[in-house]
Amino acid sequence: MTPQNLYLLAIESSCDDTACAVLNHDQVLSNVVASQKIHKQYGGVVPELASRAHQSNIIPVVDQALKEAGIDKKDLDAIAFTRGPGLMGSLLVGTSFAKSLALALDIPLLDVHHMHGHILAHFINDGHENPPFPFLALTISGGHTQIVEVNSASDMIVLGTTQDDAVGEAFDKSGKILGLGYPAGPQIDQLAQKGNPKAFPFPIPKAPELNYSFSGFKTAVLYFIQRETKKDPDFIEKNLADICASIQHTLVKILFQKLERAVDQTGITHVAIGGGVSANSGIREHLKSYEAQGWTTYIPPFEYTTDNAAMIGIAGYFKYLEQDFSGLEVTASPRIHM
Ligand code: KG4
Ligand code: ZN
Repeated sequence: MTPQNLYLLAIESSCDDTACAVLNHDQVLSNVVASQKIHKQYGGVVPELASRAHQSNIIPVVDQALKEAGIDKKDLDAIAFTRGPGLMGSLLVGTSFAKSLALALDIPLLDVHHMHGHILAHFINDGHENPPFPFLALTISGGHTQIVEVNSASDMIVLGTTQDDAVGEAFDKSGKILGLGYPAGPQIDQLAQKGNPKAFPFPIPKAPELNYSFSGFKTAVLYFIQRETKKDPDFIEKNLADICASIQHTLVKILFQKLERAVDQTGITHVAIGGGVSANSGIREHLKSYEAQGWTTYIPPFEYTTDNAAMIGIAGYFKYLEQDFSGLEVTASPRIHM
């Protein structure tokens, strides 16, 4: 039987954010994220440094999440954690910590797929409307670009996926070519707001059916910038907002071409976005524009878009309701399928 108050502690450590949240059923009591700044100077996540930073961050982050929630660890009913996908060294820290805590407190353990978390973040109870099943989810992050048919909290079918880079990488790598810091996605978003999205046309890479491809896009940006800076060394500086707006415009176009096709093929018109890139203002606005065509669209609250543990908590909560617990022998799994 589910207790009246169900306190769930969730841990997320799949990449470069050490995060912990406390939920009471589907309500978030605290949501703490320690983003690792160390990677900025390297222009990308350095796995070895990420796992070390998780090691030093995890106890303070968990302590703060409990404190902000006003909960003692003795009050917890279950521990949820990200099992994968992600970086092995990073996942190991969260997995080992979650297992130890569940063992010490003698409470159930719930292993969560990171992308389920991004999708189920829509069900965090903060007053906004939940998507009804079935719905389509466009999950867009630094590691994933997928169109998922979500039939229930545990039944999800991947209809299309990227064959190479994720859209977040397309943002970040294009930004790196322009000399922007890591991660460049949010900076491109900001700069794009002041630019002309039609200034520079970039090609749309081809990919079969509902799949995506972004590696050719990144190469096209690189060749374009090399060509233009040869003619004018100050080209980037003079045109930065227009270049960013054009990059964002093209990436939005690529994403929505396939999403439109998925809606046509499935007949499902409830459409949600999730993952770090769903923080992008261009993507958010464009999704909303489909309401005029009869889609009902769902955008997660901003704080639950980039990596966080509240989304792992809500995914764990669904598993708790199904009594779908994991054994203490569970291992981190960097390439786990949905
Ligand atoms: O989900 P997430 O936090 O981590 C992964 O699971 O990968 O996603 C991180 C990605 C990065 O590529 C980052 O540049 C991108 O999300 N991102 C954005 C924006 N905010 C974060 N991309 C475009 N526009 C944004 N506003
Ligand atoms: Zn993520």
